[in-house]
Amino acid sequence: MSTTLCEKVVREGREFVRVPKGLANVIIDQTTISGVDPEGKETIYRGYLISDIGKHASFEEAAYLILYGELPCDEELKEFSRKLNSERWIPTKLIDALKTVPITHPMYYGAFGVLLLGMYDPNPDDMSRDTLYDRAIKIIAKLPVIFANGWYLSRHGHEIKPDQSLRHAGDVLRMILGGGIMPGDIEIRAFESSLVLYMDHGFNASTFTNRVIASTLSDMYSAVAGAIGALKGPLHGGANQRALEMMLEIGEPEKARAYVEEKLKKKEKIMGFGHRVYKVHDPRTDVLREWLSKLAEYNPEARKFLAMIDELEKAMWELKKIPSNVDLYTAALYHVLGIPKDLYTPIFAIARVVGWTAHYIEQVTHNKIIRPKEEYVGPTGFKYIPIEERCKR
Ligand SMILES: CC(C)(COP(=O)(O)OP(=O)(O)OC[C@H]1O[C@@H](n2cnc3c(N)ncnc32)[C@H](O)[C@@H]1OP(=O)(O)O)[C@@H](O)C(=O)NCCC(=O)NCCS
Repeated sequence: MSTTLCEKVVREGREFVRVPKGLANVIIDQTTISGVDPEGKETIYRGYLISDIGKHASFEEAAYLILYGELPCDEELKEFSRKLNSERWIPTKLIDALKTVPITHPMYYGAFGVLLLGMYDPNPDDMSRDTLYDRAIKIIAKLPVIFANGWYLSRHGHEIKPDQSLRHAGDVLRMILGGGIMPGDIEIRAFESSLVLYMDHGFNASTFTNRVIASTLSDMYSAVAGAIGALKGPLHGGANQRALEMMLEIGEPEKARAYVEEKLKKKEKIMGFGHRVYKVHDPRTDVLREWLSKLAEYNPEARKFLAMIDELEKAMWELKKIPSNVDLYTAALYHVLGIPKDLYTPIFAIARVVGWTAHYIEQVTHNKIIRPKEEYVGPTGFKYIPIEERCKR
């Protein structure tokens, strides 16, 4: 049933377009938030190259850019940071609810917590413009607190308290690490850079999910919860955790080539390689390589993982002409920073929620319900038979 080309078909007396399975190569709408440049080399955030913003911008500057469409000036940045910090907490009732969650995949905690935020919002369906932006900031600020508490309450029984005097990225990293240690400046900047690089990426699967929910004019909490569900999948946000598991399995850089050869022989995929858009090079890897190199100056684990990445990249390019992607580098970076691997995909969500909320606002502002047409290929013409007769046969 898979199709590779768009074709016109007539059904029910009307003309439809049949598009490739998975919507591959289908443009479904326009956006001014982010997308790949016409040559397919880099992603653009509101006119800026992702590598430029990823290298230089703070979390707050980049989030402001994605949400409002331009980089902030002094006062705007101060006000945005103030709002973001003041929202970085969660109500006691949410903490109490997170005390009851079992040890499970932490992405569940995110979806659960965001829906609870919606339940405590007295007017979640208010779509006025200011309310939408305030709600976006609230969800962006609270999501990391939800993930950190879901994880540490379920595993270790202790609550993680945010420190609103810190900037967002530093406090998020501190909370993700259990709340006790304040990471160093280079560690925080490297982590912040990864959040900025993860912040948005066109109509990827979770953003598309979020836009479908928004298009029904459902509320922002529901759209973000749905997007978290889509990001959880191993074909989307789950790749960074799997890339780390792969590198841990390889163990030493010298063993990387043999590992790649073996996997390719078995037609298995190498995690952290390949991309639907970047066929030669993922520009986000350059920024993260710089951070890993800085860390490698004093951290032997960073040196080892950089050497492993080099070997993997060499082997994959020689054997398959496939470049590495951002997830190979975030996997190594988060490992070097000491982050538990199950929290890698939640970190992706903590960053991508900026894109989701911006896309939500864009979708509801220029809305048309997203409702494609199915092609029914099952049987027809059956007649209902009462159960007594049906089961006699
Ligand atoms: C990201 C990904 C889904 C892109 O998919 P895509 O553009 O549809 O590319 P395809 O899956 O069709 O792959 C095209 C070819 O390259 C191969 N390929 C792609 N990524 C590969 C990988 N990581 N390891 C080994 N082979 C790979 C495919 O097997 C296929 O080979 P074939 O033509 O001999 O059958 C894919 O590269 C992948 O699964 N990568 C691993 C997971 C990952 O790192 N995801 C994070 C993306 S940011």
